[in-house]
Amino acid sequence: MSLRLCGASLIAALAALSLKGCSDDSNPAKEKAHTITLRNGVKMPILAAGTWQYNDSVAEQVVVDALNSGFSHIDTAYDYDNQVGVGKGLKRSGKPRHSIFVTTKVPGCGIQNSSGVSVDVCKTQTVDKIEMDLQQLNLSYLDMVLIHFPPCPGEDGTHKSPSESSCYAPKSGCTHPQACDLVRAQWGVLTDYYQQKKIKAIGVSNYCQACFHCLANVTEMPMVNQVQLHVGMGSNPQGFLSFAEANKVVLQAYSPFGSGGHGSSEILAGNLTTSIGAKYKKSAAQVALKWIASRNVGIATKSASKEHLKANADIFDFKLSDEDMASLDAATFAAEDTPSFLCNDPAPSAAAVQRVVV
Ligand SMILES: NC(=O)c1ccc[n+]([C@@H]2O[C@H](COP(=O)([O-])OP(=O)(O)OC[C@H]3O[C@@H](n4cnc5c(N)ncnc54)[C@H](OP(=O)(O)O)[C@@H]3O)[C@@H](O)[C@H]2O)c1
Repeated sequence: MSLRLCGASLIAALAALSLKGCSDDSNPAKEKAHTITLRNGVKMPILAAGTWQYNDSVAEQVVVDALNSGFSHIDTAYDYDNQVGVGKGLKRSGKPRHSIFVTTKVPGCGIQNSSGVSVDVCKTQTVDKIEMDLQQLNLSYLDMVLIHFPPCPGEDGTHKSPSESSCYAPKSGCTHPQACDLVRAQWGVLTDYYQQKKIKAIGVSNYCQACFHCLANVTEMPMVNQVQLHVGMGSNPQGFLSFAEANKVVLQAYSPFGSGGHGSSEILAGNLTTSIGAKYKKSAAQVALKWIASRNVGIATKSASKEHLKANADIFDFKLSDEDMASLDAATFAAEDTPSFLCNDPAPSAAAVQRVVV
């Protein structure tokens, strides 16, 4: 603020500051660059700091460090079993609640921690899990709740991981005859909470095209689909980007560095990302994140290192050229990775024209 402000202009400036806090909300151009507007008008910060695989104490520290490193969006889940730590971190950061965007998830019915043998059980479990999310995080509202996985009819939620479920090997997401009943039951619960304003935005994760078709005539369609996406998977893996765009669903990329699997070393230290980064004085990791953000796709990244958190938040001061975007689009070193490990969706050409909602 200018030191020369005085009298009426000083009072006006102080009033504006107290209304808006000290966040970047007062800079519309910066806000536009850092957020994606969802179909209901909610502005979701593009970058989220993830907390998967952290225990409560690590999660608490990572949340504090992320919020002090430029992140304003935290991604967690009931299944991460660390929401108490995340909640403590949110409080300890000292940031006002309205300046933080908190995303959490409820398990898909039948999968990991959610028995879903019938529609009624599925609904009850979904209510229970949302209430647990609120309680563990110690929050009165949630910015976004996602259904973590498509349902797996016939499963009772006892498997520790979705990859142990009967839906995993066939990647049968939502093609089972009873899947749509469970999808609609869970979605109805999220919609109720959204309408009661206890959740500001609702979405899904690892959802296949067939799951969206289950929701064809609902009043609120999912605003976000959080799926795996990173450099090396190609420009439109299994048609997920074109399908989302056609249906006005914002994609959010998880595992942007490949989560230590296929392509991680290529992404974080390979020739392509490193040489592109050198042109902009950026690291390979920053190029990998920028490629995703440049496509208007959100990102759930993860780091327990303050240095990496700061670097990962610092991707808004450069623009990748069309040529560099095309080279990154063309990379297929991680083509085996799929956006959802539960989907076997059609190829991009068929998917591009499929529209579920208008
Ligand atoms: N919806 C779902 O089903 C789903 C599935 C998976 C993940 N997610 C979400 O997405 C988040 C991120 O995905 P992810 O955990 O699979 O992995 P990721 O973000 O692809 O990779 C995380 C790894 O990258 C390293 N890293 C981070 N920044 C770096 C940098 N600048 N330079 C070098 N290395 C760096 C981290 O190590 P350091 O800690 O040492 O930095 C960590 O080992 C999760 O935490 C979770 O919130 C959601």
